[in-house]
Amino acid sequence: MSETSTPATAEHFRYLAARTVPEDDFVKALKREARAEGIPDIWIAPEQAGFFQILLKLIAAREVIEVGTLAGYSAIAMARALPDGGRVRTIESNPRHADFAERWIAKSDVAARIQLLRGDARQVLPALPAASADALFLDADKSSYPAYLQEARRLLRRGGLLLVDNAFAFGQLFDANPTEREAPVMRAFNDVMAAATDFHSIIMPLGDGCWVGVKR
Ligand code: DHB
Ligand code: MG
Repeated sequence: MSETSTPATAEHFRYLAARTVPEDDFVKALKREARAEGIPDIWIAPEQAGFFQILLKLIAAREVIEVGTLAGYSAIAMARALPDGGRVRTIESNPRHADFAERWIAKSDVAARIQLLRGDARQVLPALPAASADALFLDADKSSYPAYLQEARRLLRRGGLLLVDNAFAFGQLFDANPTEREAPVMRAFNDVMAAATDFHSIIMPLGDGCWVGVKR
């Protein structure tokens, strides 16, 4: 065959998702409760969470920063890939989301590994020490991604892992008239990431597309 890759279809993604470790009862309950409380129904894909866990294990991550906790699903998933003594510092600006996440993190098996930092990441991130993170996951307001990227440059150690959600712009990457306000913002951010020479990065097509980068 002459193509260098097999174009993945929705069927391929269903196929691989069905062959990925399923969610456990705890995170299923977290999602159910979040929906019942009117928390936005927004989650990274389970197979995306599994991939994050593999990456975190490969780099033996101990210190992870997350921007955008929402209900705590991804913080819990990432914390599960850390050794004892490892830590996810997760930042949430919405008090209602932070309250929900804090309750569920406290009930989780990884409560000791997660610290929720309340506030706007544009203020919280600059207060964290330079080169203190093995990995950083951006999954918050997309218009601030360029500012968060600047902070990621400072906060990640050399060889640190950068993960940035929503490279596929909520499924509207190629829409001429996207309904999502932040879709054009993500397109612009993708071009910024692609041009960034200080990260070796690619878009990984799980979930809504996720940048995976290594700080040079
Ligand atoms: C939205 C935000 C996200 O980070 C995501 O993964 C999906 C949707 C949103 O704002 O609609
Ligand atoms: Mg997201």
